[in-house]
Amino acid sequence: MEDKINEIKKAAEKELEQVKSSNELKELKIKYLGKKSELSEMLKSLGKLSKEERPKIGALVNEVKKEIEEKINATEEKIREQVIKEKLEKEKIDITLPGTKIKRGSKHPLNRVIEEIEDLFVSMGYDVVEGPELETDEFCFERLNLPEGHPARDMQDSFYITDEYLLRTQTSAVQARAMVANKEKTPIRIITLGKTYRREDDATHSHQFNQIEGLVVDRKDTVNISLADLKGTLEVFMRKMLGEKTELRFRPSYFPFTEPSYEVDVTCFKCGGKGCPLCKHTGWIEVLGSGMVHPNVLKMNGYDPEIYSGFAFGTGIDRLAMFKYGITDMRYLYTNDIKFLSQFDRMDIEN
Ligand code: DAH
Repeated sequence: MEDKINEIKKAAEKELEQVKSSNELKELKIKYLGKKSELSEMLKSLGKLSKEERPKIGALVNEVKKEIEEKINATEEKIREQVIKEKLEKEKIDITLPGTKIKRGSKHPLNRVIEEIEDLFVSMGYDVVEGPELETDEFCFERLNLPEGHPARDMQDSFYITDEYLLRTQTSAVQARAMVANKEKTPIRIITLGKTYRREDDATHSHQFNQIEGLVVDRKDTVNISLADLKGTLEVFMRKMLGEKTELRFRPSYFPFTEPSYEVDVTCFKCGGKGCPLCKHTGWIEVLGSGMVHPNVLKMNGYDPEIYSGFAFGTGIDRLAMFKYGITDMRYLYTNDIKFLSQFDRMDIEN
């Protein structure tokens, strides 16, 4: 009997050594310790033994059962550790591998300039408004005091869609729209930025370009917008865009919607005003059109010129972007050349 028990023990130990999975272990547990196992059967039939043998064999069976159970538990622990080890091994990440490079885009220089202008004017209390690109003759010209017969109204210079509608030739149209929309609700302090179109057929001009337009109108008896306000505003604008050292020069000029009108030059950003090929050795570069809003324009758009005064200005965003970033050919702004555009990546990181 004792031999038999020891045999079972040895057999169990041998099998345990070869166990590889927890399922196999479960089966072994049933085989050696389960209700129907040899050892359990022995305990059940202890009664058949002699009085002397009974306690001895009973104790021995129990002891062997306990030993087998302990070994099974130990093996179970070993298998669990092995499983975890294998899992860790399998899911190991090599953190020294180089990462996959994600290609990132960058903001287009025009959008950079647009956002910068918007931020600047919003910080000075302006609203950013929009107007339609498909504009009426009325808002593009008539309400801006552009008399009939003015060259800008010529079919040769504008893209007319019908007799009445055209692709706007200037963002100045939004001045009239802003005044009509506000109807003597003062003050008006707006900028508008957007696409404009002209029928250009020479190689150096684009048929589509971008302009920014500004308009400020307020009461004469309180604020009294004057040329000094225009000058101060344009100085802040140009210095922010082209550098703090930029100087401005106001040259009397003519625009139908302003009186007096000025063209504004800035000191050449390339030579600082000394004279170079870019500024044709004058030291100055023309950038803006501006002036005090013409009384006729105020009147036509619902503002009494006896009570209100205002200033307006407009300029090409494309040119500003070129000056700001030293871009030599306007076509770069429109041809989506990745090599050109990716130069602006760095600015995203720097800013
Ligand atoms: N609209 C003019 C142009 O396209 C620019 C301009 C000049 C806008 C004078 C203005 C202004 O607001 O006051 O050339």
